[in-house]
Amino acid sequence: MTSTFPDVSISTDRLVLRPFEEADIPALADMMNDELTAAWTSVPIPYTPGDAHRWITRSAPMERTSGRGIVLAVDELLTHRLVGSLHLKNTNWHTLTSEIGYVIAPWARGEGYAAESVLAVAQWLFRDQKFERLELRTAAGNTASQQVAQKIGSLSEGVLRNALIVRSRTEDGGWTDIRTDLIVWGLLPEDLEDAHGHGPVGAR
Ligand SMILES: CC(C)(COP(=O)(O)OP(=O)(O)OC[C@H]1O[C@@H](n2cnc3c(N)ncnc32)[C@H](O)[C@@H]1OP(=O)(O)O)[C@@H](O)C(=O)NCCC(=O)NCCS
Repeated sequence: MTSTFPDVSISTDRLVLRPFEEADIPALADMMNDELTAAWTSVPIPYTPGDAHRWITRSAPMERTSGRGIVLAVDELLTHRLVGSLHLKNTNWHTLTSEIGYVIAPWARGEGYAAESVLAVAQWLFRDQKFERLELRTAAGNTASQQVAQKIGSLSEGVLRNALIVRSRTEDGGWTDIRTDLIVWGLLPEDLEDAHGHGPVGAR
């Protein structure tokens, strides 16, 4: 039988992490049509409501049911506004290791939401799911993402040279692919003892 993550909802001091719903389609499409997300991730450009619909109704549920990972929407606790998306992926149920990708909406950046939500998933993964390693992979030039990796207490373990394609604006306003180095960050259960930030309040 394939191992899968449960359909979880995780609360932190300021955020709620929960499965996406069809009602999130417009907010997700808005959030993903953003320069930094286009540059540093491989999402479609432009990101249409159709892309959001496919992601929420097909791809995200498949990630969980196939055992590959889990996709979580990040809401502000007080406003219920969608402020981010997390994706546990490439999960290995033998080694109990997984990788996390994250996007925070442009209007909600700089508040520590990425660090708070990724840390909450890590704590859930290590404590509830008994995992032994969480990996973050950042483009060499993605300073904000590296700050997130550092803030949650993960260690930079090495550079995979030329391993990643990112995107850059062209003079005519389009996008072009650029090859770059990839930094691999690892977080282990014992690293969390040194981590700063807001921990989860509860998972159900
Ligand atoms: C990376 C990302 C998720 C960070 O979200 P966030 O909620 O703003 O992150 P946090 O507030 O937790 O932390 C960001 C840190 O980076 C810092 N930062 C942001 N932009 C920076 C820059 N250009 N140079 C240096 N530091 C920067 C912030 O000051 C903050 O650090 P601090 O808390 O020490 O002040 C967000 O920028 C994003 O969605 N980017 C596009 C998608 C992406 O790159 N995803 C990651 C792919 S690996």
